Amino acid sequence: MSAARVAPESALTRRVAAGSSRELKGTAMAANGAEKQYKFGTKNNWRRTVWNELQSRVTKPADAIVLYLAGAMDLDSQIAREKGFAANNLIAIERDATALRALRGARRLAIAGDFCEILWDWPEERTLDIAFGDFCCGLETQLANKLLMLTLAPKFKSTCFVFNFLRGRDQSSNQFRSNVDSVGPMMQSKHRAEYFVLHCYGAWMRGGVMATGGNDDWDTEIIDAHVRANQPTFDLLHRRFGETVKPRFLSYRSTSGQTFDSVIMNSMAPAHCPEWRTSDWKNVAKAWGMRSAGRRIAAVMAHRTMRSGSH
Ligand SMILES: C[S@@+](CC[C@H](N)C(=O)[O-])C[C@H]1O[C@@H](n2cnc3c(N)ncnc32)[C@H](O)[C@@H]1O
Repeated sequence: MSAARVAPESALTRRVAAGSSRELKGTAMAANGAEKQYKFGTKNNWRRTVWNELQSRVTKPADAIVLYLAGAMDLDSQIAREKGFAANNLIAIERDATALRALRGARRLAIAGDFCEILWDWPEERTLDIAFGDFCCGLETQLANKLLMLTLAPKFKSTCFVFNFLRGRDQSSNQFRSNVDSVGPMMQSKHRAEYFVLHCYGAWMRGGVMATGGNDDWDTEIIDAHVRANQPTFDLLHRRFGETVKPRFLSYRSTSGQTFDSVIMNSMAPAHCPEWRTSDWKNVAKAWGMRSAGRRIAAVMAHRTMRSGSH
């Protein structure tokens, strides 16, 4: 990535930015589709690689709080526990009623709702160590913008993120890619997670433009001129992006030949953008039609406390 180029963002981002196998048998009927979809060699290897990496990125896995898209079969849980994560700290998010029933039937902690909505409303006082979005969809523009905002959120400054996207199937994800491409021949890759990180890089450098007194203009020539005039600062910001975010990219192919692209990355909260520090997050949530999730989170966390007390 060149420090002299800044990726485009939407108008909105501009404004702001354990169970045992015995337990799981009971859920096999409901989860049969999910098992077929998610239990195959390349995904099993990918899952293991991701949890290895997560183990190395948190200070103490046993204490790490994890929010993740588990899917009905929760194939992550066993691997996570092998890596030292505690069952009572693994909290699934699930928007599908059948999968949610399967998870709760297997005594998993599971919050009902959308991944971004739950993270948006996650209480500031509770450190979140890992947010793992193994999405079944492509990198759609709105999803990319919501995830970008989450990676910038000060409350997630010590959170490690994992995002996994399907390559190609969704037309809207192709749109996101062509938006990024329209700025210039920045990337030859089709890797959806690389595109997402490029989007993040754009926001990071945008923060640099604002912090160095650049005007709020989206004309790439004007931005390029500003970057050239402040080249040492932007070279430093460019280096800091990699050092801060530390993206690790992975890909795998499913048995049906679909490609999935993922990234494991650290928070971008140290981004130098006063605009994002002071942004009105509630207004963004409203503009994006996000539902409040505070009560659902509180209920599951209370259940978790009760469970840990009873062990
Ligand atoms: C790909 S599966 C997870 C598979 C699991 N991580 C594994 O490795 O086997 C994604 C699950 O999350 C749910 N899901 C997908 N997108 C979601 C979102 N934005 N919010 C909440 N749940 C979502 C789906 O219903 C599905 O059960």
